[in-house]
Amino acid sequence: MLLTAKSISKTFSNVHTIIKQANISLEKGKVYVIEGKSGSGKSTLLSMLGGLEPPTYGKIMFKGKSFYDLEEDEQATIRGKSFGFVFQSFNLIPELTVKENIELPIHFITDKNLILNIQDLTKVLEIDKKLNHKPAYLSGGEQQRVAIARALITNPEIIFADEPTGNLDYKTTKIIVDLLSKLNIERQITLVIVTHERGLINIPHTKFEMKDGQLRVVHQYD
Ligand SMILES: Nc1ncnc2c1ncn2[C@@H]1O[C@H](COP(=O)(O)OP(=O)(O)O)[C@@H](O)[C@H]1O
Ligand SMILES: [Mg+2]
Repeated sequence: MLLTAKSISKTFSNVHTIIKQANISLEKGKVYVIEGKSGSGKSTLLSMLGGLEPPTYGKIMFKGKSFYDLEEDEQATIRGKSFGFVFQSFNLIPELTVKENIELPIHFITDKNLILNIQDLTKVLEIDKKLNHKPAYLSGGEQQRVAIARALITNPEIIFADEPTGNLDYKTTKIIVDLLSKLNIERQITLVIVTHERGLINIPHTKFEMKDGQLRVVHQYD
């Protein structure tokens, strides 16, 4: 098992429990889809799994080690090397070019042979002509594809995607979903995708639902 969340809970301000004793195990090469209403705690769950926010209770084990008990620099290295994040907000740095934004996470990788080729990656995403532009000159769909390229360039083991195609047009959605599916199949990358869109992912996956703070499996496709 690559990553396991053991009975994780999240409470904000000591009163409001957003997530109650959630369990999830992520295997190499598998796909996990998490659905749930707005405000049900999906982004909070993803942040905890992705090493960005410790749970109030419970543990996250990554390759057998308790992630949040590691030193801060070890946590940062795992986040940088092994995890890729695609957020709803693109979080691009406006002062940097598209190319510089995409290459930001590369400094975590010591063996540069492991990273994906930026030309190939941006060509698939149809942003290869925009590499020297600043993000502000790109459309929303293009900006999201830059954020995707940045998440993928390090060739991570797990990609956490928080509504990666929310508000995007059909064409961009298809490019993104096709690329994620291809990386999953060809490189055995584990995908954890939060989405509203039914039928977005048509490769085998386990589907979860977040409801009333509980995470439960609703379907296992093989
Ligand atoms: N840092 C925080 N402090 C207090 N409440 C928060 C914080 N982050 C999220 N919440 C609350 O937790 C609930 C779940 O939020 P979120 O995980 O963003 O849900 P979703 O992604 O499913 O829409 C919401 O009610 C939100 O207001
Ligand atoms: Mg959210």
